[in-house]
Amino acid sequence: MDWHITPLGPLGARVEGVNLGLPLTPAEVSRVEQLMDTYAVLVFPHQSLDQHQQIAFARQLGPLDLGLRKLKRGPHRFEYAELADISNVKVDGSVASRDDPKIVGNVANQLWHSDSSFQRPRAKYSMLHALVVPPEGGNTEFADLRLAWESLPEAWQRRVQHLSAVHYALYSRFLLGDTGYTEAQREAIPAVQWPLVQTDPRSGRKVLFVGIHACEVAGMTLAEGRMLLADLLEHATQRAHVYAHRWSVGDLVMWDNTTTVHRGRWYDFAQRREMRRATTEEVVTSAEAALQAP
Ligand code: OGA
Ligand code: MN
Repeated sequence: MDWHITPLGPLGARVEGVNLGLPLTPAEVSRVEQLMDTYAVLVFPHQSLDQHQQIAFARQLGPLDLGLRKLKRGPHRFEYAELADISNVKVDGSVASRDDPKIVGNVANQLWHSDSSFQRPRAKYSMLHALVVPPEGGNTEFADLRLAWESLPEAWQRRVQHLSAVHYALYSRFLLGDTGYTEAQREAIPAVQWPLVQTDPRSGRKVLFVGIHACEVAGMTLAEGRMLLADLLEHATQRAHVYAHRWSVGDLVMWDNTTTVHRGRWYDFAQRREMRRATTEEVVTSAEAALQAP
């Protein structure tokens, strides 16, 4: 296993010398998991995975998450419902116009979030593969939620230690003025609660679990809870805690949604950008679930 690992900053590492299109040995799977425990984001450059290879790679790391495709049953660009279409491209292959409903999803991805934190089980690893990148913009940024906890002033740590946040799938859409949902659609993905402070069962490090899907703090008024969540997210995403990834075609970037938040950055929606994401579900033992329980 002659992998070449280059740390990228406050979090993240570049991993060279591995072909993710081939099956990994069990030792290689554990190595990926251990690197994720340390770095939380891994960049694998120069991969060229077809859909089957991307699915096969992801399946080695856990059961696959369907995210919002649990609800959307419409036409899909990929052969697998488990592959999320992170692009501004319509099913017919043309670039979507700015007022296409698909674009609001792209914009929502530009708010700091953890994938699928609005459901239980939530997402563990996301694996995003770049197929077409725009000439300018469209970076993805990552912030480390373990660093967020460790750097939080003690008085704040005490203040938030036993609080839980409510995470709701459509909250980020509402913030962007995308409110045209029926009552049935609003209720189709019931909100879930997650403790604000968690212990990562793999590394033992504490995590400040925030992000834009968190829209209420249990037991607090809406106003005070939202302000607290905004303050915590601002703390978590300070520049010194962020790795900004500039994409090249063929990159596969993998992140841990339980220890990081991420956001896309601006690009011109008239330019084509095509990414394909596979995501695993978090699997927790009952002992671990007790640590996380609200
Ligand atoms: C995602 C996501 C951001 C981006 O794929 O989950 O948030 O830059 N992507 O495309
Ligand atoms: Mn995302």
